[in-house]
Amino acid sequence: MKRHSEEYFGEQRDYWWNRDFLELMAKRWRLDNIGLVLDVGCGIGHWGQLLASILPKHSKVIGVDRESDWVDKAQVRAKNLGLDKRYSYKKGDAQNLPFKDNHFDLVTCQTVLMHVKDPKAVLKEMLRVLKPKGLLMVAEPNNLASAMVKSNVDAKWPIQIILDTVKFQLICDKGKQALGEGSNSVGDFVPGYFSELGLEQIQVYISDKAWPLYPPYKSKEQQVILKQSLEWLERDFWIWDKEDTKRFFMAGDGTEKEFKEFWSRAMKYNKIYKQAYKQKNFSSGGGGMTYLVSGRKP
Ligand SMILES: C[S@@+](CC[C@H](N)C(=O)[O-])C[C@H]1O[C@@H](n2cnc3c(N)ncnc32)[C@H](O)[C@@H]1O
Repeated sequence: MKRHSEEYFGEQRDYWWNRDFLELMAKRWRLDNIGLVLDVGCGIGHWGQLLASILPKHSKVIGVDRESDWVDKAQVRAKNLGLDKRYSYKKGDAQNLPFKDNHFDLVTCQTVLMHVKDPKAVLKEMLRVLKPKGLLMVAEPNNLASAMVKSNVDAKWPIQIILDTVKFQLICDKGKQALGEGSNSVGDFVPGYFSELGLEQIQVYISDKAWPLYPPYKSKEQQVILKQSLEWLERDFWIWDKEDTKRFFMAGDGTEKEFKEFWSRAMKYNKIYKQAYKQKNFSSGGGGMTYLVSGRKP
């Protein structure tokens, strides 16, 4: 069986942030006196371990995830990065964190609220284990924004194609929420949840990271992105695999007929993109939208 977010734990995840941007954020968040950190829905450790370079050297990080496989892999990854003395992992549910109240100086998550039924309830639970005056900080996307990012290949395609893609994505997102599996654009709502939960000093930023591709795709980063994109384009894959996409689309009140039409068109476009990649004739600014929202517990 597929494990949660498996498709997105490839090498490309190492290129999600600009390090100098995170250094700037560390100053804005005043991370210098953080001691104990909780990384909720840690996956195989990318986010929490990335923070190692901006957290004080004496700080300790605990990661929790409900998938025991991910917890094991995160521990191995921490060891490989020489972080195993500071980093430990355990199985746990974000909605019922296995920690006492008022325990951590910083509680954080990346792309986790977008997968849960009730993101505000998860934030409330994260807040419970945070010390008074502690920092709650989350990185969550608006993934719909990416649907409007164009490339040289699709620049002159009819407007209706873009609108259909956006509509399809909106229907899938509605279905994903109806199934209790979260919203891919939850980032838009996080500042409001922070305010409703009574957080103070709320700050909202957007990551300055883009993932441009332009021939001859020379950098290591472009090579990694290209390889991953080609791997997805080689098979029945869109944002999700065919089975999940259909599940979300139907739950969002789409019809079987619409799904079939959309999917066969999407796979046709995939072939066009694939050809352009292979012929080294694809370029795009590769913009994305990830919010960083933070606040202090009163
Ligand atoms: C997209 S991944 C993000 C992983 C990691 N935060 C990162 O950015 O690399 C989402 C993770 O959330 C975990 N997850 C989803 N719902 C959860 C829950 N209720 N409790 C704990 N973990 C959960 C999944 O198992 C998965 O590892």
